[in-house]
Amino acid sequence: MRVGFIGFGEVAYSLSKKLLQNNVDVVSSTKGRSEKTKQLAIDSGVKIVNSYEKVAKLSDILISSTSPKTALAIAKNYGILSNGIFIDLNNISPKTTKKIATFFGGNTSSADFVDGAIIGKVSSNNSTILVSGENSDKIAILNSYGLNVKIISEKIGDASSIKMLRSIYTKGITAIIHETFQAAEHLDLSNELFETIAITESEDFIYKSKSRINSLATSKSRKSEEMDEVLDFLKSIYDEDGLEFNSIMSEAVKNKFKSLKKFDF
Ligand SMILES: NC(=O)c1ccc[n+]([C@@H]2O[C@H](COP(=O)([O-])OP(=O)(O)OC[C@H]3O[C@@H](n4cnc5c(N)ncnc54)[C@H](OP(=O)(O)O)[C@@H]3O)[C@@H](O)[C@H]2O)c1
Repeated sequence: MRVGFIGFGEVAYSLSKKLLQNNVDVVSSTKGRSEKTKQLAIDSGVKIVNSYEKVAKLSDILISSTSPKTALAIAKNYGILSNGIFIDLNNISPKTTKKIATFFGGNTSSADFVDGAIIGKVSSNNSTILVSGENSDKIAILNSYGLNVKIISEKIGDASSIKMLRSIYTKGITAIIHETFQAAEHLDLSNELFETIAITESEDFIYKSKSRINSLATSKSRKSEEMDEVLDFLKSIYDEDGLEFNSIMSEAVKNKFKSLKKFDF
């Protein structure tokens, strides 16, 4: 079996390391990319070819790991050329995922498409790839080759929807933790508060909360943009059913991230 990557950054590097350790043939191209990407691909030991078309045609499983902005074009230009199956792992909305699905099937492409979403940081031990779509089992094979893949359903869009829904929860918690502890700090009670909450939450509450607050210092803008995606998603699912759109909590979380200043950390 051969796995190909379009886009060779953190995701491709981390996943191909595991695949190579499990004797999978991995191929990519770095044509026209940055020095950082070129070096990463060389360091990883994957086979490097001179065009993205070649990567697609050589791959039984073709993975797109570029960026949300380029996902549609990558699927349209290269995904459909895959020798077997194409999976998108970019952080894209279910709407974009469903649009990508329209490029496949019929006379357009003999390749199949699977919706994918990485949960957690790809380099962490417990990160999981959620997949959905009729051909998900063809990606779940990668569980035998060092990856952690979980099938959600046969419906394209479900894996990306879970990722969006998870974002509402995780980013909401991060925003409320920041607000709570900023007030506690002001009263010089933050250590006492951490210990008090840990009594009824989990043992690792203190460690996890501090990590959430610290990471916000560098990720607040990205997180605020990601909440825009979440709000779009919520609007679309309510619109589809002709229901009133109520996302007051997610609006607040977005505005919270947007309003944070340097001195808030
Ligand atoms: N890292 C994570 O833990 C994680 C978790 C969940 C989801 N994701 C998603 O996975 C995707 C990849 O993430 P990453 O962390 O690997 O990003 P990254 O480190 O920034 O790598 C992106 C790679 O794609 C390349 N690229 C960009 N546009 C391209 C194009 N048009 N054609 C070919 N290659 C292109 C970049 O090359 P240059 O260096 O030349 O720009 C770089 O090699 C993103 O959509 C991200 O949202 C990542």
